[in-house]
Amino acid sequence: MNVYGKHYRTIWLKPDDPKVVQIIDQRPLPHKFVVEDLTSTDEMARAIKEMHLRGAGLIGAAAGYGMYLAALEAPQSSFATFMDYLRAAGEKLKQTRPTAVNLEWAVERQLAEIASRATIPAEGVKAALAVATEIADEDAEFCRRIGEHGVKIIEEIYEKKGDTVNILTHCNAGWLAFVDYGTATAPMYEAQKRGIPIHVWVDETRPRNQGARLTAWEMVQQEVPHTVIADNTGGHLMQHGMVDMVITGADRVTRCGDVANKIGTYLKALAAADNGVPFYVALPSSTLDWTICDGVRDIPIEQRGDDEVKYIQGLHEGEVKKVLLTPPESPAANFGFDVTPARLVRGLITERGIASASEEGLLELYPERRS
Ligand code: MRU
Repeated sequence: MNVYGKHYRTIWLKPDDPKVVQIIDQRPLPHKFVVEDLTSTDEMARAIKEMHLRGAGLIGAAAGYGMYLAALEAPQSSFATFMDYLRAAGEKLKQTRPTAVNLEWAVERQLAEIASRATIPAEGVKAALAVATEIADEDAEFCRRIGEHGVKIIEEIYEKKGDTVNILTHCNAGWLAFVDYGTATAPMYEAQKRGIPIHVWVDETRPRNQGARLTAWEMVQQEVPHTVIADNTGGHLMQHGMVDMVITGADRVTRCGDVANKIGTYLKALAAADNGVPFYVALPSSTLDWTICDGVRDIPIEQRGDDEVKYIQGLHEGEVKKVLLTPPESPAANFGFDVTPARLVRGLITERGIASASEEGLLELYPERRS
């Protein structure tokens, strides 16, 4: 998508040095646009853990490139020791963030593909780069298709209403959270392309404010009409007919359709259900966890440091600064995600189409999973 009119993805190889992976460092956004070089698995693991980059799809792509960096630094003496090194690097990457299933999926895909495509370390390095590129390209393409499927819902609402479609979104499931397009945002961008008037309510999304900082920045870059709202506002807007639909992303969706997403999503889904507002979740298949059904019970919820709750970041006299919000001695709790039960979700927008949030609905789109 666009940054000051120039097309960017969120992760790529440095053009003049293919041993370096480049990312957009999301921490200083929207105030500063910084590109960061990553040259080792450790640097990639730190970038994921400390959220230089974030979002389920991008975390998956980063893990793919992290495994490529691991292949570059692995011992080249034998294929067995090369693979041992990769397995250990994969474990390190997997431990950085527990909730988004894309991370584990990308590491496992890399290990399986390298083992099947290579017999010596040099081939393993080439395979790791090829697979990292495939994961990133696939993520972008799947998001593009999500846009094509999701726009039909917006179109339908517009045909009935004959006026601007108001869409509420939570957190950042935009292109910054993926390789390109985003999931929740892809149908919005497609609607804009087709000339359907939309307006987006952007939840600020405390504590890290991914909505206020990142989604709003994307909307500015793409020239999508939007309004940032405090997290507590959605229910009020829904009661007054000011939200036509909700679209969020997801960090993990169980085979029965339960959705883990940024903390606060569940409350929006409850308000949507109470007000008859359709609540959709957009995700690529890399976010599906076919091994579990009950999300509330079985999805691990990341707990992060209390400083994200106690401090707030913003621009002050040209510098990005953090300021303390609470009494210094107050403890704070920081649960990163919550789970929205499938019963509150109107549909799951995937790269293959829109499924009902149920095991049967998902299996209709992914019949190869029946076995
Ligand atoms: O903690 P983050 O910023 O990595 O949160 C994950 C998310 O980006 C959101 O939950 C998002 O809505 C999911 S879509 C990638």
